Amino acid sequence: MRVALGVGGGIAAYKAAEVARLLVQRGVQVRVIMTSSAQEFVRPLTFAALTGQKVITSLFPEGGAEGTLSSAVEHIGVALENDLLLVAPATADLMAKFAHGLADDFLSTMYLAFPGPTVLAPAMNTGMWQHPATQANLATLRGRGITIVDPESGFLACGMVGPGRLAEPESIVDAVLRKLSVRRDLEGETVLITAGPTQEPIDPVRYISNRSSGKMGYALAEAAVARGAKVVLVSGPVSLNPPVGALLVPVRTAAEMRDAVFQHLAEATIIIKAAAVADFQVVRVAEQKIKKTAARVSLELDPTPDILLELGRRKEDRLLIGFAAETQNLKSEARRKLEAKGADMIVGNLVGEGAGFEADENEVVLVMRTGEVREVPRASKRKVADAIFDEALTLRLALYASG
Ligand code: CTP
Repeated sequence: MRVALGVGGGIAAYKAAEVARLLVQRGVQVRVIMTSSAQEFVRPLTFAALTGQKVITSLFPEGGAEGTLSSAVEHIGVALENDLLLVAPATADLMAKFAHGLADDFLSTMYLAFPGPTVLAPAMNTGMWQHPATQANLATLRGRGITIVDPESGFLACGMVGPGRLAEPESIVDAVLRKLSVRRDLEGETVLITAGPTQEPIDPVRYISNRSSGKMGYALAEAAVARGAKVVLVSGPVSLNPPVGALLVPVRTAAEMRDAVFQHLAEATIIIKAAAVADFQVVRVAEQKIKKTAARVSLELDPTPDILLELGRRKEDRLLIGFAAETQNLKSEARRKLEAKGADMIVGNLVGEGAGFEADENEVVLVMRTGEVREVPRASKRKVADAIFDEALTLRLALYASG
């Protein structure tokens, strides 16, 4: 999820830093846009450090005429790539601009170009808030379906007491997540996820592995964090940024993955084995690099521990979800693995030419222990991850509600 956070110029601008921090903590990517007066109160560096992204501070690129066209129309790009526009604090001036469609800086221009939901958290002096002009602008904005997180009453920086103080950062973040219809339905759960490939060493420089990118497992971790779960992500070697808010446990081999999984089993309530675990490991790993010879060589391989199978035996009432990456017979293979491994759900996906491992999108079939089968149409891995959690929670009710 991506949120554009517009920061207006008011004392409350410092509280926007906390809003940014909380959003990032919930797995949201935040792009901050500061008005020039906001920059009088807080430095852009604060937001850049909290969000890990460049802060937008002006409509026109530095250097005037030398700026490129692409940077001059950046507001359109930022408008389109975000799921929601949040403005906190929304000053009287910004609300007036939005209500009347003025566009003389990046934020007001982006407001006009933005097609998605907008949330405003106003903050200003009580007199300004109660002024008929501000109230009329507010009515106009509400009439357009914009969500207003009302200011609270209290002591204001100007010495007055009354409405106008920015709502608490937690309330603003809740309003944003509600608007993005993020369910907090995994609160209290600990989700243990494995992701990526494993690497089974042959010698100090070579290994056996597979093409798994880890993207599906990382998308699951992101979705679980956003929905309120504590997440333990046991990951083979991948080149992805770890999702903020998840505990990352890096591993290399199937044996290491097994140990990490069983170390965290006790606390887990939902386990998802998205990792593409190597099926074989080399019997005798060479201590030195194996030298080239003219003769044929062969590697002796042993099966790796089947982690899912062992989990199936030891899971008790935890919900256990496995994956089946297949090149053919998807549903029947998924069903076979569900029964053989004692899982509650198998997520089947086709891999091979143009599908699966490295892609950003996925299309899966969910085979359940209840006998039900659900097809999840092609969508981003993040959307597929949410569909998996939706089904998992329904499945758990069906399996364990009576107990
Ligand atoms: N898995 C595992 N440990 C292994 C191999 C697989 O935990 N040593 C898990 C994977 O994480 C996945 C599921 O088992 O959730 C199915 O993996 P897959 O490779 O599709 O199945 P295999 O059991 O290896 O069967 P096959 O190779 O015959 O398709």
